[in-house]
Parts: sequence; structure tokens; C-alpha cells
Amino acid sequence: AKTRRFSTIKSASVSPMAEDNEGTVKQQLSKLFETSLRMTVPDEPDLEPLVVKCTGKFGDYQCNNAMSCWAKVKGKKTEFKGPPSIGQAIANNLPESEMIESCSIAGPGFVNVVLPNQWITKSIQKMLEKGVGIWAPKLPVSRAVVDFSSPNIAKEMHVGHLRSTIIGDTIARMLEYSNVEVLRRNHVGDWGTQFGMLIEYMFEKFPDWENAGEQAIGDLQAFYKASKLKFDADPVFKEKAQQAVVLLQGGNEKYRKAWSMICAISHGGNEKYRKAWSTICEISRKEFHQVYERLGISLEEKGESFYNPYIPKVLEGLSNQGLIVESEGARVIVIEGKQIPLIVVKSDGGYNYASTDLTALWYRLNEEKAEWIVYVTDVGQKLHFEMFFTAAKLAGWLPADEKLYPKTSHVDFGLVLGDDKKRFRTRSSEVVRLVDLLDEAKTRCKAELVERGKALEWTAEELEQIAEAIGYGAVKYADLKNNRSTNYTFSFDQMLNDKGNTAVYLQYAHARICSIIRKSGKDIEELKNTGTIVLGLPEERSLGLHLLQFAEVVEEACLSLLPNVLCEYLYNLSEHFTRFYAECKVNGTPEETSRLLLCEATAVVMRQCFHLLGIVPVFKI
Ligand code: ARG
Repeated sequence: AKTRRFSTIKSASVSPMAEDNEGTVKQQLSKLFETSLRMTVPDEPDLEPLVVKCTGKFGDYQCNNAMSCWAKVKGKKTEFKGPPSIGQAIANNLPESEMIESCSIAGPGFVNVVLPNQWITKSIQKMLEKGVGIWAPKLPVSRAVVDFSSPNIAKEMHVGHLRSTIIGDTIARMLEYSNVEVLRRNHVGDWGTQFGMLIEYMFEKFPDWENAGEQAIGDLQAFYKASKLKFDADPVFKEKAQQAVVLLQGGNEKYRKAWSMICAISHGGNEKYRKAWSTICEISRKEFHQVYERLGISLEEKGESFYNPYIPKVLEGLSNQGLIVESEGARVIVIEGKQIPLIVVKSDGGYNYASTDLTALWYRLNEEKAEWIVYVTDVGQKLHFEMFFTAAKLAGWLPADEKLYPKTSHVDFGLVLGDDKKRFRTRSSEVVRLVDLLDEAKTRCKAELVERGKALEWTAEELEQIAEAIGYGAVKYADLKNNRSTNYTFSFDQMLNDKGNTAVYLQYAHARICSIIRKSGKDIEELKNTGTIVLGLPEERSLGLHLLQFAEVVEEACLSLLPNVLCEYLYNLSEHFTRFYAECKVNGTPEETSRLLLCEATAVVMRQCFHLLGIVPVFKI
């Protein structure tokens, strides 16, 4: 009989305990060095401590201020003879602290610091006791908008949207872990040119659309394709479609009047356009939702149309500031250094992508009080973001200095390529549907598990869950592990490999640690309360230190908006563990308790990494 021996899938729990959080190791060291710098060079109160972690044999962290200090005091009346003597003074002036075991000077004045083993173990034990939430980094903002995924209504989500969805979710998760309130926004394209096209096409094809709309349209993608063909081929239709958009948006007064009249005659009023539009949106929305559910991603839709009512007021404000001018019938904002201006009202009176984005930014700053607004799209939209960010600075909505908040960031990413190194397409050169990719990843994983005899060992439900967790996780990780700016090649064979830097390998590594703990027969919860960690061998120490550095890695990944930094950490963690496990026998040794706790701490941090990457960990494979 197949019995369930232990729970298979749990999600990592995070308890935000701000009062227990003393900041990352780097932050704590930086504070000490700041105190020392003020004493060492009192005339330079603006010097910021430069502390980096290092892997050399001289120390765990290094302060690199001596050279820049020397550059400042050189030539002035000073007791120092050069960078090394400043380094020595910085070391001497460090306040007494239990986090410093020893200090030494190397090269041209680097101050190396070694952390005491006991300090490392204390922090790890506290984390085990109180939860990984106590290691959350402190970030300089308390509320952020992450604008991600944002597909377009009527078109299917494809592999291009995969990147935005996955990268955006991870960024949101990392910020949330860092106690930032995140407004996850799906800026759905629900208000653009394609609607005039779709609506006109619907009227034409299905005169009785009000009764038959949803069923009649059926396959939305096919419907979109057919209407696009007509749009491109038939100038009369094109014209009609474009006018329908203006009508829909209710832009320019003159246009609105004229067209609502025509509309009233030909289609029975504006109301009809709005209804048709919402029918089309509903069908799309259902499709998007299925994808998010499968990926375990939550986000709130505030599509382009949401901001439509605010556009006139926001543009009026910009106009009053003198920022908007007429140009060839359109209304534009001139951006210095750019060849084209930012069009905010088209010459036909309609609003566009930029009018909506400017207004959405205004809303996010003023109504939602967000301090950091992060947009995740492909690099092709770089210019658009640069332009309207600049417009917002000209309007005084954002400070010109990028180091200050509120601020906006464009998280851009490269293309997904196929085996032929060209843009990823199916064999019949269609865009690849996201759902098909997820299906295939899961199917392949399941087949592999069945081949390994798991169907006999596990329940059918477990097999499904584990195949899904590994398959979907592999797709996400393959995307996230690359620096997002580079194009990456989509390959099932590569991402499902159980060796190398893949989610499958990492899932195995985690499951193996869980199995070591299970096989010990010890109650790990009890050990957390009664046992202590001792870092005897070098492999134990470097594993312990790496665990402790989790917080500053998350901080770096958040501030640079680079999830691959976290992936790299996770992979290195599993490598540290492998070295530890090769040297340190766990079960049945005098060090068993300490080593089991190190295993547990590694598993906890790995699960937290998985959680931040949106990957469901498995506890056995
Ligand atoms: N719908 C757009 C697209 O598919 C992405 C929107 C991104 N967000 C924004 N605020 N512009 O390309």
C-alpha cells in the first residue's frame, strides 16, 4: 500500500520580526567602520564606509577606505604617511564589538576582519529558533509598486510575457520578504488600438454579438489574427477601427461629439462599444488567470483603462506647467537629447501608451503613495520608459537625483531564444504559448520520475505535485539564473538536467538534506532548542558564514533588481553544503547534533531562496 510518510510540499514561512533584526553583517560592520572613519578623519564627515565580503585567507570582510581617505588628506597637514598607516588607524579606531574576532592590514591599507565562530553560530541558531524572517534586510523604502506581467487583452500570453511574469514575481517576493509593502500591478493592455480593430470586426462578423458575443468569438487568438489581417489589408476597415478607439477613449471634445453621433447612427451608441470591450476583456482575463494560478503568482489587475479617467486632469496639470506643446497636430513633451518628443495626445485626439503611463505614475505616486515604482518589460521598451521618467522629473514628480526616492526603475530583459539562436518560435513559426511550455516541462518531469520507479513508491497525487513543482520550478529558474539583460536560450534538455546549475539539481540537493535529517531519527525541533552549533572544520565554518550572508545577498538582489544574484547564492550554498558533507560525517558522530542543525539551517535557507524565486520545494525525490 502507498502510504504518506511525511508531508511532501510545504511553503516556507516568513515571520517578519523587525525588533530582532540587527541588519545584515555588512550593515553592522559598516556601522562600526563609520564610527572609526569619523574618528580617523574627522574633517571628512561625508566619507561612506566601503565594506565588502571577501573570500581570501586574510578575513571574511574587508574595508577599503584607506586609499580614498589618503586621496583626501594627501598634501594637507596630516599624521598619516600613506594608505597603510590610515588603514592601521581605521583598524585601531574600530569600536569594541563582539562581531570582530581579529583585524589585520593587507596590501595598500585594506582592513581585513575575521568574524568569531561563536558570533556566526549565535545568529544561525537565532534564525533557526525565530524563523528566517529575522534575517530580512532593511531597505530604504516602505511601499513599492511592481508593474509586471502586463499582457495585452485579446492576445495570448506567450514566452515573452513569461520573463516579465517570473522576474516581476521574484522581485516582488524579495521586496516583500524585506518588509516592503508591495503593490503587485498587472498593467494589462486593455485600452489600445487593437480594441477598435476587434470591436469593429466583431460588429461586422456577429451583428447579434450582444447575445452571442462570447461563444461566437470563441478562440480569441484566432479572432485577433483574423481581425488583424483585415486591419492590415483593408484601409477602410483600418480607418474605422482607429476611429473606434478614439470614440472608446472619449478623448478630444470635437471628435467625441462627431463620433458619438456617427456611432449613435451606425451602432446604437457609445454604450455598445464599451460593452463589446468588456466581453473581449473577460475572455482574455480567464486565460491569464489560469496561467497565474499554475505559476502560483498573485497580482492585481489595474489595466490601462483604469487610469483613463485621470488622464485629462494629469495632462492639464502638465500643460499648466508649460511642459506640453503642439507638434504636427499632436500634443507632445519635448525631451532634451531625444530625437523625437513624447507624444501624449495623438493628432486624432486619442491617448496612447505614454499618456496612460504618465497618468499611472502620477496615480501611483499621489494616490498610492509608492516610493519605488518598478516596471518589468523587455528591453525593447527602454526608450519609452526613459522618456516618460524624464518627463516626470521635468514635472517635479520625481527628484532628478537617482539616489533619492521616490524613484522609478525599468527592469529590462532580453529575448528568449530557440535552439537556432533566433527568437523562440514553434516549428510552424508561431509564438510559443506559455501554457504549452508549462505542460511540457511537467510531462517530461513526470516521465523521468516514473522511469525512476517513483510511481510505485508514491501516491498518484504526490507524483503529480512533485512533477509540477520540479517542472515549473525548472522553467522559472532557467530564466532567473541568467543576468536578465542577456538573451537566453530556452532548452528543456538543459533546464531539466539534474547536474549543474539547474532547479532540478537544487531540488535534489534540498531533498537529500531533508533525507539526512529524517534518517537521523532525531526530532529536529527539539534539537533547535537544546543543541548548539560548533564550527570545527573549515568546511563547517565556510558553510556557516555563507548561510549568514543570505540577508546581504537579498539586499543586493533587491537594490540592483537582479534575481540572478540570488540564484548564484543558492547554487553556491549547495556547493558549500556538498563540501561540508564530503568532509563531515553527520549521523552517529559526536558532532551529530551540531551538524544536523547545520543541515537544517541549510535546508531552511534553501527553501527561503526557493520561496523567493517562486519555486515550490520538494522534500523527497
Ligand atoms: N502591455 C505591455 C506589453 O505587453 C506592457 C506594459 C508594461 N507596463 C507599463 N506600465 N508600461 O508590452
